[in-house]
Amino acid sequence: AGFANVTHRVPMMSIEKVTTIEGLADWEKGLARILPGTSFSYVCEPKVDGVACSLRYERGVLVLAATRGDGVRGDDITANARTVRNVPLKLREGKVPVPEVLEVRGEVYFERADFEKLNQEREAAGEDLFQNARNTAAGTLKQLDPALVATRKLKFVSYGAGETKGFLVETVAAFVSSCRELGLPTNPLSTRVAGIEGVVEYVKDFEERRKTLAYETDGVVVKVDDRSLHAELGTTAKAPRWMAAFKYEAEKAVSRLLSVSYQVGRTGAVTPVANLEPVRLAGTTVKRASLHNFEEVARKDIREGDWVLVEKAGEIIPYVLESLKEKRTGKEKKIAAPERCPECDSPLERRKEGEVIIRCPSYECPEKVKGLAIALASRRAMDIEGLGPKLVDQLYEEELIETIADIFTLDKKRDRLLGLERMGEKSADSLLSQIEAAKTRPLDRVLVALGIPHVGETIAAAVAQRYSSLEEIGKASAEDLQAKGLGQVVSENIALWFSDKRNKELVARLRAAGLKPSVKPAAPSSGKLTGKTFVVTGTLPKRSREDVKDLIVGAGGKVTDSVSKNTSYLVAGEKAGSKLERAQALNVPVISEGELEKMLGIE
Ligand code: IVH
Repeated sequence: AGFANVTHRVPMMSIEKVTTIEGLADWEKGLARILPGTSFSYVCEPKVDGVACSLRYERGVLVLAATRGDGVRGDDITANARTVRNVPLKLREGKVPVPEVLEVRGEVYFERADFEKLNQEREAAGEDLFQNARNTAAGTLKQLDPALVATRKLKFVSYGAGETKGFLVETVAAFVSSCRELGLPTNPLSTRVAGIEGVVEYVKDFEERRKTLAYETDGVVVKVDDRSLHAELGTTAKAPRWMAAFKYEAEKAVSRLLSVSYQVGRTGAVTPVANLEPVRLAGTTVKRASLHNFEEVARKDIREGDWVLVEKAGEIIPYVLESLKEKRTGKEKKIAAPERCPECDSPLERRKEGEVIIRCPSYECPEKVKGLAIALASRRAMDIEGLGPKLVDQLYEEELIETIADIFTLDKKRDRLLGLERMGEKSADSLLSQIEAAKTRPLDRVLVALGIPHVGETIAAAVAQRYSSLEEIGKASAEDLQAKGLGQVVSENIALWFSDKRNKELVARLRAAGLKPSVKPAAPSSGKLTGKTFVVTGTLPKRSREDVKDLIVGAGGKVTDSVSKNTSYLVAGEKAGSKLERAQALNVPVISEGELEKMLGIE
């Protein structure tokens, strides 16, 4: 939303992935089958982990920048790209004449240090931390405010061409050096090698080297150097044959699991976290790693004192893959799920029999209250600007809030609010007016804010279309909810949450504190997708899965989480896994995002 569409004159295709040395050799054999007797030279370069972007220069002037989108159409992000510091607004006239048209494709990314610094600043400002550099780069390019983009230190590196006029280069290596001559950033590690042996050497050599680079890379892109061969080699349905991406395995390290801490989330979920003997992994020192949940710990038989294998694949928090049983001494201790909340000592519960997650049910549990408050204030929920983790901590420590309902009566404690560190009259009043405005946010936002397990934006929107107040939803049984066309699991979940006395109390307190959600006009009772049930999976070309779900629900369709014989369609994107297999096994039609758009008439 907010960006004009751009149709790429030359589509931005995908790239064939290879994960083994044999895979590289097989790739070359495939090339030799098409062009027997050819001796191939290649250009190898780091596969920079960021987002693809296309820059169009006309007579040397940057006139358009676009995201990849689905490869055919992307978003016009020219204003944002202009703020990326090493993107030239004008090409340099020199040895290489400025071409009439040059579309340069490349990657927009963060250097590790810049990303870390950004997170440090966010932490200091009490804002949520970003999970990984790649998604943050993607998110930044889609910001509507170029001034904000300019504050983030994004970088660009060129790696390929789209449409060109008056730009004659015969090899990939010449393309790279010409770009460099024209003042475009290129990768100094881009190297021409002879034969697949040369590629293998580069790939092996780069495996360690890449860890010392300023940016993240997870592989090497290999391209046939002679551009005249590109057309001859042609493309498969998805990707050009003359190019392959070698991807390294995620980095792993071995360490000792010293102890286990318990983390309490905003839904009260208590999850185990491993405290490790500090170990270097993918450029950082790792001391903590996720253990997912207690069932997994039991299934993998991971024990305190074990030597464990830790993996990090792009995310900031690594996770424990497995324990090395052969290294046991017999002194290791089994890890038990706690019976009481590590934060507030309330007895923990499973909401339903057989459920994996154990939760703290208390609304006075400090960690839960803080987590709920932060989530409640977030943009996706009630959007209270300025109420981030830091302030929530302060409010809690100073006993200005004991439950999330207290947020809405902070206006009565203005004096004490002013007593907080770094809280002036102006920021206090701005916060209070934000809170006042939040009291009448739409019902679906409020539903998201409550932290009902499994109720995200899509489901909240679907519920809010069918009911006009929290009280009404609270009175509905699972059957009532289902009768209104909500899925079975969703219906049971919501009824279960509202049937809990403590949740009823919370809703009553919120109401007493002045929360009065607004109601959108009722949705059309029949839309283009009424009566159809969808499952959405994989990485979709244009929209996030959540956005696609919203589209479906908005058109009267139902969205569920798992594929069954009742599923009308599976909307599948890239990397669709088990859901795709299941859909195929059950003969459930599989459609793309584009086909869904056609159904909706929004092509
Ligand atoms: S050339 C046709 N060269 O990796 C796609 N891609 O996994 C262009 N990438 O979508 C491929 N560094 O966003 C190429 N040196 C490089 C790259 C590179 C990163 C990205 C690119 C592409 C993805 C493929």
